[in-house]
Amino acid sequence: MDWVREILYDFENKNLYRKRILREELKDFCSNDYLGLRDHPRVIEATKKALEEYGLGSGASQLVSGYTEVHAQLEKELAKFKGTPSCVLFGSGYMANVGTIPVLAEEGDLILSDELNHASLIDGCRLSKAERKVFRHRDYTQLEEILKRERHRYGKVLIVTDGVFSMDGDMADLRALYDISERFDCILYVDDAHGTGTVGKGKGSLEELGLGWRENVVIMGTLSKALGSYGAFVCGSEALIELLVNRSRSLIFTTSLPPPVCAGALESLKIIEEDPRMVERLRELTEIVYSRLKGLPFEIMFHHTPIIPIVIGDEGRTLDMSKKLLERRIFLQAIRYPTVPKGKARLRLTVSLRYKENDLEKLFEALEDLSQNIML
Ligand SMILES: Cc1ncc(COP(=O)(O)O)c(C=O)c1O
Repeated sequence: MDWVREILYDFENKNLYRKRILREELKDFCSNDYLGLRDHPRVIEATKKALEEYGLGSGASQLVSGYTEVHAQLEKELAKFKGTPSCVLFGSGYMANVGTIPVLAEEGDLILSDELNHASLIDGCRLSKAERKVFRHRDYTQLEEILKRERHRYGKVLIVTDGVFSMDGDMADLRALYDISERFDCILYVDDAHGTGTVGKGKGSLEELGLGWRENVVIMGTLSKALGSYGAFVCGSEALIELLVNRSRSLIFTTSLPPPVCAGALESLKIIEEDPRMVERLRELTEIVYSRLKGLPFEIMFHHTPIIPIVIGDEGRTLDMSKKLLERRIFLQAIRYPTVPKGKARLRLTVSLRYKENDLEKLFEALEDLSQNIML
């Protein structure tokens, strides 16, 4: 088994070795539980109730006997929330992307993918038999050039993008993508894992930009981030959702989500809808956090979303900073290649309503100290 050790040694040498860190006892500043809903009393109560009623696991796939009233209800509410005719659940965001993209784009089709798309989108594109081309991040001029040159050679064309980019925190210009996808007759696939519950009034990237759903648009979102649960969903036209139910391999050949997980997510949705101030509070806190960070001598990316990466660049230095923070019980994970490009390593700070004021103060203080001791 020397080859295993060799690979690991190589990772270590390049500062790309990954270790899981137990988060208990730490102040976690890198979770995606943006609204702090995962342990909201109502969410816990709804989950417990479903646990008592249904038990833990669903027992089968959606198409066998693993589809319950809770699954159906959650799909209905998600479709309403996203303003689409229909919705279907998936086991996770990863499964949604790898299971949907190959259904939307087949042999003879073309996929155009933003270079900073999430790994699960990239893997979904790889699983498709369509041809794939990557365009520079948010470079819609380049996207349009490719389409002008190549559109006629393909049947369907699928444009794939994150709504809110998970590692940079910036947003796709969906207005531009709406326009391009209409002019060139494309399907637009928006992964709104990080937009759901954080932008617009909580409904996501389309709402943030004042856009309504259109027939050629497919929206994917997760239950695992701002909704504080686990799993994912795809929203679109009724016919498209039926096609996924009939064709998507990561939906058909896997056990459906546990009913308590769906019940918890359903309650989170209700909480967001009943209290629009919640998303507003997240926005306000995000601005406060940034205002405290912007004076530090780090490259801080900020796009008014709760993902605020502190870009250090060098992998070793980033790891070092993360370790120094851990010594103070502050958890800011070092994000490195291949999650982000080589030489663009970062501490991915996320803002969440679960953070307490004095913990944030400790974070600012620690970063201030580090900026003096390490960087200068
Ligand atoms: C943009 C994006 N899409 C998809 C996923 C995958 O979602 P899940 O964690 O539910 O598999 C993630 C994060 O994990 C993500 O950041």
